[in-house]
Amino acid sequence: MIYPILSAEEAAEFVQNGFTVGVSGFTSPGCPQAVPVAIAERAKREHEAGREFKINLFSGASTSDHIDGELTRADALNFRTPYQSHPDMRKAINANAIHYNDRHLSELAQEFRYGFYGKMDIAIVEAQSITDDGDLVLGTSMGNTATWLKMADKVIVEVNDQIPETILGMHDVYTPNDPPYRREIPIYTPHDRVGTPTARVGTPTAHVDPKKVLGVVKTSLPISKEGAFTPVDDVTAAIGHNVCAFLVNELKAGRIPKEFLPLQSGVGNIANAVLDALDKSDDIPPFEMYTEVIQDSVLELLESGKCKFASTCSMTFSSGAMTEFFEKGEALHNKVLMRPSEISNNPEVVRRLGVITMNTAIEADIYGHINSTHVSGTRLMNGVGGSGDFTRNAYISIFLCPSIKKDDCISTIVPMVSYPDHNPHSVDIIITDQGIADLRGKDPVQSAHEIIEKAAHPVYRPLLREYLNLAKKGHVMMNPDIAFAMHSTLIHDGDMRKTDFAKFMK
Ligand code: COA
Repeated sequence: MIYPILSAEEAAEFVQNGFTVGVSGFTSPGCPQAVPVAIAERAKREHEAGREFKINLFSGASTSDHIDGELTRADALNFRTPYQSHPDMRKAINANAIHYNDRHLSELAQEFRYGFYGKMDIAIVEAQSITDDGDLVLGTSMGNTATWLKMADKVIVEVNDQIPETILGMHDVYTPNDPPYRREIPIYTPHDRVGTPTARVGTPTAHVDPKKVLGVVKTSLPISKEGAFTPVDDVTAAIGHNVCAFLVNELKAGRIPKEFLPLQSGVGNIANAVLDALDKSDDIPPFEMYTEVIQDSVLELLESGKCKFASTCSMTFSSGAMTEFFEKGEALHNKVLMRPSEISNNPEVVRRLGVITMNTAIEADIYGHINSTHVSGTRLMNGVGGSGDFTRNAYISIFLCPSIKKDDCISTIVPMVSYPDHNPHSVDIIITDQGIADLRGKDPVQSAHEIIEKAAHPVYRPLLREYLNLAKKGHVMMNPDIAFAMHSTLIHDGDMRKTDFAKFMK
């Protein structure tokens, strides 16, 4: 190998205060692990010596505790984009200690190439291997790695010997030309490959100019830090059942073609429960997925044959499921293809394939606006992630959430969302444990009745009907005095059920 072999500590010495750093990966799999921890240690030493040390961090999506956790706790971050899900980082962002820019995941790579964020000083990339001429076989996710390798002045590669060689062939690296030279992305089915194969592996790998590589850090670390999901409970099972019922009805009505359409599914326990329900339903035909993450439940679907193929950006398996996946061999590997985020989430491709999208909401309002990101309008949870990429371009866009939370004190259906991420122009269906609200072809007032009667919990329906009665008439019926009365009551009295609209009326 032509590259210097470095310790993580030696690699961290290349990173200077004020640097813009890009990391590989998308969720914890695929992220570098040793060098970011060493950077956090370096930051602590610099701070102890009375010197400033903060970096600007760009990733594919959320990372692991090795990156977002360690760097936050070391007070080593000035700026962060495009998505995170770490409790410590969330706290720091909400305390305005880190400048966080919440971006659609499909957009960041191209925006970086357009020059919107300045230059990238260093990219730190986990890989299975790197050749002397700069071909890398990446790990278990793609994120924005290909663009970081191209844009960064210098590159550090963590070669992790725990990434099996059998991962070779599971990546499809493709970077579109930038406008005005962009052409269509030639993906016409979820399993189409579009990257240019390299001589070495006969399949598209990532590439870096070898002159930019500062060195290689050898690691031997577990390739997934993802935890297992909580088991399906009554509420998530009811949501899963309702999703199945909806899709089966659409199939029967001919609104979904009998060949079925690719599915996208979001992150978390609800998504897992929905996929579990689809697996068990005899009325849902085998399907393909065009999505950004595949979780443990997709492994089961791939094994059962219910999911025929999954195009994804990341294999977000728990550690046990990851081991199982690689033990199962080629039969399973041939059913998964990893793509860069700008392709896995690409609006053009999502629209062309007719992807049915399913994402989770923090709250929805009676008109179909969706809050995916900010609890009570102010506290960032994770970020918009890929939900906007998929929702806006979906064949049918579905949002999922439990109708109530926190011992019935919170209704997820409210008069007006406290932070709008998605709007009724893009949202087709809202499904809760209570039922299915179908907004297609309805005006705002019809949508409001549909959402209140079908998706809201019965405990909150009278309150939501009362709001409509008190709202000013118009195409959208709204009352600014009381639009956030339920949120206000939650903040002050801890329970939305105590809302008394009369107290708020001017
Ligand atoms: N009002 C007040 N608090 C609320 C709330 C509401 N309407 N909804 C959720 N919360 C609180 C919960 O009580 C919980 O707090 P806790 O941690 O103190 O218990 C917290 O917010 C998280 O809620 P939870 O139900 O555990 O969230 P989740 O794991 O189901 O995730 C999202 C839901 C929306 C946060 C998550 O799906 C997400 O980040 N989505 C955006 C990105 C995305 O959609 N990506 C997918 C594209 S592929």
